[in-house]
Amino acid sequence: MGVHIVDHPLIQHKLTLIRDEKTGTKDFREMLEEIATLMAYEITRNLPLEDFKVKTPVAECTGKILVGRKVGVVPILRAGLGMLGGVLNLIPNAKVGHIGLYRDPETLKPVEYYCKLPADATEREFILVDPMLATGYSSVAAVDILKRKGAKNIKLMCLVAAPEGVAVMQERHPDVDIYTAAVDDYLDDHGYIVPGLGDAGDRIFGTK
Ligand code: URA
Repeated sequence: MGVHIVDHPLIQHKLTLIRDEKTGTKDFREMLEEIATLMAYEITRNLPLEDFKVKTPVAECTGKILVGRKVGVVPILRAGLGMLGGVLNLIPNAKVGHIGLYRDPETLKPVEYYCKLPADATEREFILVDPMLATGYSSVAAVDILKRKGAKNIKLMCLVAAPEGVAVMQERHPDVDIYTAAVDDYLDDHGYIVPGLGDAGDRIFGTK
C-alpha cells in the first residue's frame, strides 16, 4: 500500500498543460478525461487474469481474460465527475456510485450532502475519484462512507495531491493505495494546493 506517482510522459505533459491558467474549460475537461483514462490503465494493472481457451481462425490457443471482478467507480462530487468518463472509457461495465461532499469554508471539513452507491459494495473493487487531494478530509470521509457500506478494496485516483492530504489519508486509511500524477509543494491558507491548478470544479465546469 502506498502512494503511486503515475509519471507516464503523456500524463505529465497533459498535467502541465491543464495547470496553465490560460487553458480554457473545453481543453481542461478534455485533457482531464484523457489523463483519467491513462491513470485507469495504471490503476487496473494488477487486475487478476485467468486462462481462457480461444480458437483463432488459425488454431486453438490459451489466452488470458479478466477474472470476473466487479468494479465500482465513485467520483466525489463535483470535481470527481471530470475524471469519471475517462475511467469508464477503460472499464465500461463498472457500476458508478456518487458521493457528494462540500468543504465548509470555515473549518475546511467535509459535509456529506449526497450518497448513492452500488448495493453490492462488499463485493466490489472501488476506484474513488477526486482530482485534488488537498487536506485529505474529503477523501477520508468518502472512504469512511464506502467502508461503512462494506467496501473492502478501495483505491484513490487523484490528479494532484498535497503532502498534507497524502499524510492524512495514509494515517486514517493506510490500506487505500493512492494514485496521483503529482505531489505538489503545500496547501495554502485557503486549502488550495500550491502550485496546483486552482479550483478543479470551477475549471471543469466553467464556473467561478
Ligand atoms: N480543491 C481544488 O479544486 N483545488 C485545490 O487546490 C484544492 C482543493
